[in-house]
Amino acid sequence: MAVVEKVLIIGSGAREHAIARALQRSPQNPQLYGLGTNRNPGLLASCSQFEIGDINDPDFVLNFAKENGITLAIIGPEAPLAAGVADALWEADFPTVGPRQDLAQIETSKAFARQLLTDYHIPACPKFQVFQTLEGVSEFLSELGEYYVVKADGLTGGKGVKVAGDHLHSHQEALTYAGELLAEAGQFVVEEKLIGEEFSLMSFTDGRTLRHMPPVQDHKRAYEGDTGPNTGGMGSYSCANGQLPFLSSSDIDEARRFNVDTISALKREFGQPYQGILYGGFIATAQGVKLIEYNARFGDPEAMNVLALLETDFLEICQAIVGQTLHETIVQFGRQATVCKYAVPEGYPNHPVKGQLIDISRLSSTGQLYFGSVEKTDGENLKEIGSRTLAVVGIADDLEMAEAQAEKLISQVSGPLFHRKDIGTAELVQRRINHMRELRPND
Ligand code: AMP
Ligand code: GLY
Repeated sequence: MAVVEKVLIIGSGAREHAIARALQRSPQNPQLYGLGTNRNPGLLASCSQFEIGDINDPDFVLNFAKENGITLAIIGPEAPLAAGVADALWEADFPTVGPRQDLAQIETSKAFARQLLTDYHIPACPKFQVFQTLEGVSEFLSELGEYYVVKADGLTGGKGVKVAGDHLHSHQEALTYAGELLAEAGQFVVEEKLIGEEFSLMSFTDGRTLRHMPPVQDHKRAYEGDTGPNTGGMGSYSCANGQLPFLSSSDIDEARRFNVDTISALKREFGQPYQGILYGGFIATAQGVKLIEYNARFGDPEAMNVLALLETDFLEICQAIVGQTLHETIVQFGRQATVCKYAVPEGYPNHPVKGQLIDISRLSSTGQLYFGSVEKTDGENLKEIGSRTLAVVGIADDLEMAEAQAEKLISQVSGPLFHRKDIGTAELVQRRINHMRELRPND
């Protein structure tokens, strides 16, 4: 008889709840275990054992894996990857979905990522320079003119990037910010500001073979019309035909090729396979597709879009990733559109209200609901705890219907929360299409 897999999910946001839901659909009926930083009601309900603790501490994770006889681990967020949790698990013979610390530098160091692509002649980078002093920064800014971006090198939860026009209004401001980054971390990146439309292209990989997921567009800004501060992502959509309406199919091919070439460059650089998910944050420009950044994990919210569509047994894919048999696995996604919308606390992201009760009892169906930064109180009440509270996913034959479904579901949630009504609407998507037409009039 086949052994029942005991799968450990590390992380406790809506992305990890989506991972749990995908595993629960597996015909192999795995037993789920969880480690997280908040008592996520979705994970509490899905896991036979769920513990709170420091998920960035390799010993804490390892002890839990040993005590519970875990047979496979999946790391959701980037911080445990950066802390070497995958290395510790593999060393103790726990097969793990999520790259080792060296390989995760593709996300954890922007300088490393840019340099790797340059060294391996992968033409996805804008003009860039890595600095360890302020010497030469002024000259490089002059070369870039009004199109420049200054980036912290390490993990900053999306807050380390300042873009000309949005956050920086002169070379002097750019130099001041560069000085701050230098004092904090000793290294920073200055690069060309790219103009275009962003999209996410994620791939499953065992280090040799890649299986691509449908492209998704996330929305980073907090408020409607792409205004307000940057967030972790307010919502995302994908289309029934596996394309995005503002992209050409050659854009998607190019992004897939970059993911393939980057995985092969990482293998050559470190002599080790990258086993997990590679997430390319791309931008389609007048000069073709360029890379904004790589992430070493599923996107949040993008995981909700793609996992909701996944038809292949997700556990089988994870087994193929750790066993390096992905070349034998066909990965299929449903031909439907998805719209994911996040409800977030009033004041999010800069001054979110915390500890307020929310009510989901009016929700007509909870099957498309994903809990994020929320906890169950002593009673049956739910309390938001400051970050993105919960997400819903609409799934339908076209985008319009998927959007209407997501909007209906999310408006049934009550509490001091807000969401972006415009994500996935025809009007917003048309703006993306028009923008690309302006940039590429001859296409
Ligand atoms: P990152 O943390 O690298 O994803 O950057 C956060 C956001 O900053 C991205 O989603 C982009 O909107 C913007 N950004 C980063 N790099 C660039 C660039 N080179 N050109 C234009 N926008 C950028
Ligand atoms: N969707 C943004 C992120 O996962 O980083």
